[in-house]
Amino acid sequence: MTGIIAAMKTELELIRNKLDNVTEEKHGGLVFYRGSYKGKETVAAICGIGKVYASMCAEAMTLLYAPDVIINTGVAGALSDKLHMLDCTVADKCVQYDMDTSPLGDPVGFVSGISKIYFPADKDLSDRFAECCKKTGKEPVVCTVASGDAFVADTKKKKWISKEFGASVCDMESAAIAHVCTVNGVPFIISRCISDGADDGAKFDFPTMCGMAADISSNAVLEFIERYGG
Ligand code: ADE
Repeated sequence: MTGIIAAMKTELELIRNKLDNVTEEKHGGLVFYRGSYKGKETVAAICGIGKVYASMCAEAMTLLYAPDVIINTGVAGALSDKLHMLDCTVADKCVQYDMDTSPLGDPVGFVSGISKIYFPADKDLSDRFAECCKKTGKEPVVCTVASGDAFVADTKKKKWISKEFGASVCDMESAAIAHVCTVNGVPFIISRCISDGADDGAKFDFPTMCGMAADISSNAVLEFIERYGG
């Protein structure tokens, strides 16, 4: 079974509408859409915005459905000048840029307990996913995704995240899902399409581009499920 998590309704709509024989299964505050796409078993959920909701959803999905892989699909802000509106990105790794125990001597981003700053995505599955992006007509950029509980709309902050962590993309959920998947031993893929530049213009660009960017990422997810879903 393939698990799909998106933060917002817009980011899951296209996928949910393409699922056959869907049942809505409510667990806690979450609704899981269980169905199939081209005969491949799929479970999908809208987790809500931010790292806490994303973590809740990834944990519940793992325990309730034991997916073979969790794909996080959605939109993101660009931290790199090399990325443009509606470009596709696939994470090689994720980092929580707002995790900070540096006053205690740790590097910024360090997650205690598992002693990690970066959470690598499943290389083989992410490579396959990148091939699926290409099949949908988009050349994906493989890069580091930085997550935190803030919508980044500030050039100074964007430059800090990019420099500190070598990240090209920012969002509010990926690294939390990566964290939960890593702890549970579930392979994960992060697919994010650029909706804004995480700068002064982001508050105008995001609402305009979000739907289009979300659908581009969703199309790659559908291609992946069709080819590699179980
Ligand atoms: N998701 C899409 N754009 C974003 C931004 N600028 N900051 C955080 N999350 C985002």
